[in-house]
Amino acid sequence: MTTRIGIDAGGTLTKIAYWDEFNEMDFKRFRSSDFHKVKDWIDSNHPNASICVTGGRAEQLKKYLNTNKEIPYIVEFDATMNGVMYQMQRGSNQPKAAIIANIGTGTSIHIMQESSHKRLGGTGIGGGTLLGLGMALTGISDFDEIINQSRNGKRTAIDVLVSDIYKDNKLPIKGTLTASNFGGISLNNSNNTSPSDLLAGVQGIIGEVVASLCIQVADAHHVEDIIYIGTTLEDNELLQQIIESYTVLKLKKPIFLDHHGYSGAIGALLEYTK
Ligand SMILES: Nc1ncnc2c1ncn2[C@@H]1O[C@H](COP(=O)(O)OP(=O)(O)OP(=O)(O)O)[C@@H](O)[C@H]1O
Ligand SMILES: [Mg+2]
Repeated sequence: MTTRIGIDAGGTLTKIAYWDEFNEMDFKRFRSSDFHKVKDWIDSNHPNASICVTGGRAEQLKKYLNTNKEIPYIVEFDATMNGVMYQMQRGSNQPKAAIIANIGTGTSIHIMQESSHKRLGGTGIGGGTLLGLGMALTGISDFDEIINQSRNGKRTAIDVLVSDIYKDNKLPIKGTLTASNFGGISLNNSNNTSPSDLLAGVQGIIGEVVASLCIQVADAHHVEDIIYIGTTLEDNELLQQIIESYTVLKLKKPIFLDHHGYSGAIGALLEYTK
């Protein structure tokens, strides 16, 4: 039997979902700057595979793969939503409607109702911001190193909280909410911040911007569940925590999937079983 492979060639990472020899879904990931490694992996492991691609860099990858076989392309948002639905159906939680935020290089926000979906908006704040701002502020360029360092960081000197401003006043909103991300650096003239603190602050920007956008669209569409996906969340407990606590505080239900960044690849793979 020919192996089937779904590939999501994203702005930063190329994700692969495929059925292994035990008929289990398996996953693989490469940098999108390493398309030759994607080709080598396919040529060495699954030379006769039927491939389906999605993602913004799908056309570039197709040229690279240069096979005689037809490689169908699925629109990224369709593939991603199908991948999310598949994962939700396998779990016990199957909301009728949900907001989906894909925190990739940038962030795209969608609503899924029954089996239809629509893009509602997005922001340029995403995983690329974590890597880029992280690198600009600390010189650290490796994602794992960035999330490891940020784990030990403190945001007290970096951010301004509502309670910092409303010191002796009655609080109009919860005091622990961030009033200004990174505002503390200039307001408090803090110059004793460590790289860990700065990286924790960057995680704060990403988590709070994305979560607050999602909360607002969830309110506008009367939806309770917000599914956060994208490889930016992979092994990144701090970002998950920031997103989770803010979403819960605003009385919405945050959902994280096991295979954070693979929804697009799963959707492309499933195209064969339709
Ligand atoms: N090994 C890694 N190398 C680089 N980035 C990583 C790595 N692991 C996790 N990341 C994070 O994942 C982000 C990319 O997420 P994802 O794979 O979902 O996006 P993408 O599909 O490449 O981009 P887009 O969907 O916007 O085109 C990076 O910006 C980075 O923050
Ligand atoms: Mg993507």
